[in-house]
Amino acid sequence: MDEITQLLIGGNEAGQINMNAAMANRHGLIAGATGTGKTVTLQILAEGFSKLGVPVFMADVKGDLSGLSKAGKPHKKIDERVSLINIEDYQARPYPTVFWDLFGDLGHPFRTTVSELGPLLLSTLLELNDTQTGILYSAFRIADENEWLILDLKDLRSMLIWMGDNGKELKSEYGNLSSASIGAIQRRLLVLEEQRAEFFFGEPAASIEDLMKTDFSGNGVISIMDVTKLISGSPRLYATFLLWLLSELFEELPEVGDSDRPKLVFFFDEAHLLFDQAPKPLLDKVEQVVRLIRSKGVGIYFISQSPLDIPEDVLGQLGLRIQHALRAFTPKDRKAIKAVAENFRPNPDLDTKQVITELGIGEALVSTLDAKGSPTIVERVMIRPPESQMGPLSADERKEQIKRSPFNGKYDVAIDRESAYELLKKRAQKAAEDAQKENSQKTPSSKRRSSSRQSWSEAMIKSAARSIGTSLGREGGKFLRGILGSFLRGK
Ligand SMILES: Nc1ncnc2c1ncn2[C@@H]1O[C@H](COP(=O)(O)OP(=O)(O)OP(=O)(O)O)[C@@H](O)[C@H]1O
Ligand SMILES: [Mg+2]
Repeated sequence: MDEITQLLIGGNEAGQINMNAAMANRHGLIAGATGTGKTVTLQILAEGFSKLGVPVFMADVKGDLSGLSKAGKPHKKIDERVSLINIEDYQARPYPTVFWDLFGDLGHPFRTTVSELGPLLLSTLLELNDTQTGILYSAFRIADENEWLILDLKDLRSMLIWMGDNGKELKSEYGNLSSASIGAIQRRLLVLEEQRAEFFFGEPAASIEDLMKTDFSGNGVISIMDVTKLISGSPRLYATFLLWLLSELFEELPEVGDSDRPKLVFFFDEAHLLFDQAPKPLLDKVEQVVRLIRSKGVGIYFISQSPLDIPEDVLGQLGLRIQHALRAFTPKDRKAIKAVAENFRPNPDLDTKQVITELGIGEALVSTLDAKGSPTIVERVMIRPPESQMGPLSADERKEQIKRSPFNGKYDVAIDRESAYELLKKRAQKAAEDAQKENSQKTPSSKRRSSSRQSWSEAMIKSAARSIGTSLGREGGKFLRGILGSFLRGK
């Protein structure tokens, strides 16, 4: 790499502050109290990456990022910043965006299957205890072994009902599948359904490739996932979804060598939701994914009010630090300020601790990584103004954008193909018919019912529904599961 590919962050009296795009896969953190400029900082970074041809994915927590698709309006304050930072090529302009929405209201629905989510994330999402988690793992194993597809929530529900009915036959192989625990999982599923999660589970599942597009001019497409409803209604589903997406990226993308810019950048707003209440095994996995995904050319940027929201193991891996103002009201605030100040490489001309509380809106303490990957000395920086509009589009503007999406027709209608639910229903019907036939042929015997049931479950386990088998992600007859237990697709 001869020339450094730069991305402009902002500037101060001493000059412009850029980040080296080759280091963008070393991740980053944008932190600061409410209203200090975090979202706009995210916006200008997204613009910068897009300009470099790097696709961007972001979760829009407050609905204020849709303005990225529209040119910014002229404003005196923007002009002031442009001249202060000495930006010569500033040009108000729209950026290529695609809107997504798990619920399909404000963008294309973004679905995955229960199977692809996998048992680890699902048990976290359902807040299951160890016994219940064990049963869920058995459900996935039984489904995998029999090649039953668990695509949506009703597939999972029918699996659980079937397991409950056949606990005795399954016991030798899968241990005790207590009906109390199965019932508890079913109740958790109901809660999930009340949060409209059935929209998220199903097909067509979103393809990672569709998040990695560039437009005709070579600008990276910015995928904006509306999560306004999700954040308020089911923060756990939000965190699970983003984690799943990260693990998908990790599993699906090839290793890449050193490059002057990343392949994809991922912004994770309200990052504390990811770590709040997450069980230790999951936290370990997150830490692992963050560490390993670098080699796939993916940069992850966490946005949070306080850096203390992020576990230390993860925090230590974040190269770019953009710290907006923090308040110093409570002892916890002061603890955060102290920690932040100590984590920066000191600047002899700057009293970091003092400055953190004095920063204006859209101003921040910034440390980047130099060409060797070492943190640069912390600087006080005026963040550059965005070229696209700050704040949301109007509802009509958004509709117009969605109408023009390149993915129209691809994701909008759900497909419900034959999977566990349909198969188990058919089997149950057939078993009932067979039992009836046998009953009418022979004289009724008290043993009849249970033996027909026995043969039904035996048939289920042994011969199973090979007809609907899939060759996806299988090796030696076993389904492969990735780092977060999600179902691996064939490579
Ligand atoms: N770099 C910037 N250039 C110009 N104006 C800015 C910049 N950063 C912030 N502002 C102004 O400050 C306002 C608040 O910024 P922003 O919405 O990014 O704050 P925030 O930290 O995301 O707040 P919240 O925690 O409430 O989400 C913006 O609407 C904009 O007017
Ligand atoms: Mg914000």
